[in-house]
Amino acid sequence: MFRIRGPVHQLQMLQLCRTYAAKIPTINNVGPQPFNSIPTPSTSTQVKTLLKLLRKDFDLVEHMSKRHQELGPVYKENILPGIADVTVSCCSPADTEAMLRSDGKYPVRPQTGPLESVRNDLKLYKGISEASGEEWYKVRSVVNNHFLQNRSVWSYGEKHLKVSQDFTEYIAKHLDSNNEVPDFENAIKRWSLEAAGVFSLDTRLGLFDDEVSETSLELIKAMDLFFENLSKLLFGVQFWKTFETFTYKDFRNCQKEIYNAVSLHRRAVQHKGSNGKETNQLQSFLNSSLLTDNEKDMVMVDFLSGGIETTAMSSIFPLYLLAIHPEKQDILRQEIQKYIGDFTIGSGKVLAEMPYLNAVLRETQRIFPFVPFYSRKFKNGIVLSNYQVPPDQLVINSANFVNNKDPAYFDEPDVFKPERWFDPAQRKKAAFATVGSFGVGARKCPGRKFALQEIHSLIAAILSQYRIEYHYKPIRAKLGLVSYPSEKARFTFIPLNE
Ligand code: HEM
Repeated sequence: MFRIRGPVHQLQMLQLCRTYAAKIPTINNVGPQPFNSIPTPSTSTQVKTLLKLLRKDFDLVEHMSKRHQELGPVYKENILPGIADVTVSCCSPADTEAMLRSDGKYPVRPQTGPLESVRNDLKLYKGISEASGEEWYKVRSVVNNHFLQNRSVWSYGEKHLKVSQDFTEYIAKHLDSNNEVPDFENAIKRWSLEAAGVFSLDTRLGLFDDEVSETSLELIKAMDLFFENLSKLLFGVQFWKTFETFTYKDFRNCQKEIYNAVSLHRRAVQHKGSNGKETNQLQSFLNSSLLTDNEKDMVMVDFLSGGIETTAMSSIFPLYLLAIHPEKQDILRQEIQKYIGDFTIGSGKVLAEMPYLNAVLRETQRIFPFVPFYSRKFKNGIVLSNYQVPPDQLVINSANFVNNKDPAYFDEPDVFKPERWFDPAQRKKAAFATVGSFGVGARKCPGRKFALQEIHSLIAAILSQYRIEYHYKPIRAKLGLVSYPSEKARFTFIPLNE
């Protein structure tokens, strides 16, 4: 049986805090408490945090879980006084609902500093990920129209299945004597770039071919460096804000290379679609007269950069849970055989509607949220757990990692039980208690349906060919740009016909 370890286990305190917090409004009945009365760690605790921050193994999610245990469902803290800003963290279902309702027409997610900065340097549109207000809304509305409808996403289903099928052939060619793929993480990043290329660039990059083209190799290299540098700039000491560090310059060069490559693809796709016969969503998006070429380029750049590392790392978690739960793997394999048969037919709609596959993905996100929290600022302020939070204050929603393993919301929370998601009462109880991995509201991830379709196709393709096992140290989620597996994903692939 799968057991979750770590501080989130000590829940009694949290439950007490939640009960207490829920009572505040009725006890006082005098309106929200002022911001400065939000619970905050003592000065000595903050000094200890500073010392912990110097350690390489500092884990932000673990740190915040602990704070919630000590201080309740809402607290504020500045972990780097003088350098970082004060952060308010909240987790109760009522606060999650309040955050969603206060988003307004133009939700504000704090920008990814270095990304916004290099795009400004290069005089590019900031991208939907970094833009705000009307500038964000205009582009996001066009993106939603073209890429968020089920039929748009499903129209790429067969291509995604083909990419994943090609990946299983790549696995077959690269199995070592232990039936493992050496450096599976690298292989899975190739898979996610190949799958993202299908709808973001309208091309197969050929990353599993014996001879990969020079242009595709350069794109992989630029993408790898892009994420490596972004991570260094975000999580290291922020010297780049004062002067142009080597990492910052390198990051800007990667962004420029990715932009140039994407822009070339955009012109090629536009040319193909210019005879008035649009054959896919990307072409019809590129024909939109509502956006400039630069805005279109940056949507494609955002799709690539938003969809590769995230989808690659996220796909490892369901594979791991299935590998260590062979009985669930068998149930899912039977469903795959029933719905997709010998794999000659298969569509996005079929993949999206497979009940057990969907339940496996939901249960995986409960145990390992692919992105553990989401953040917002509120132009008009917000009331959280009866505390008044002022305008433009950074708020982090930590519902995923605080509530997902709380028995108040999930029976036997330590058990991997996809079946729980078939129970309407469970789904109702989980609403707002957990926020999933793709954010919330109008600013929610626009690539979520593509990401899930890709992961569904990957699991379907792998389980159709292999029984997967995992024989090493238990994997935990480690926070980086997204959740990363704490251990190498060394899966054993045993061909089904053996
Ligand atoms: C498992 C994979 C993925 C995860 C876990 C993920 C997660 C997220 C999250 C948490 C956000 C912030 C949402 C919010 O603030 O409410 C986001 C935004 C975004 N994601 Fe994803 N994402 C994934 C895949 C993708 C893919 C495949 C694409 C490309 C099609 C994509 C493109 C974007 C973009 C462009 C934004 C910014 C949206 C905006 O600000 O309006 N993501 N994603």
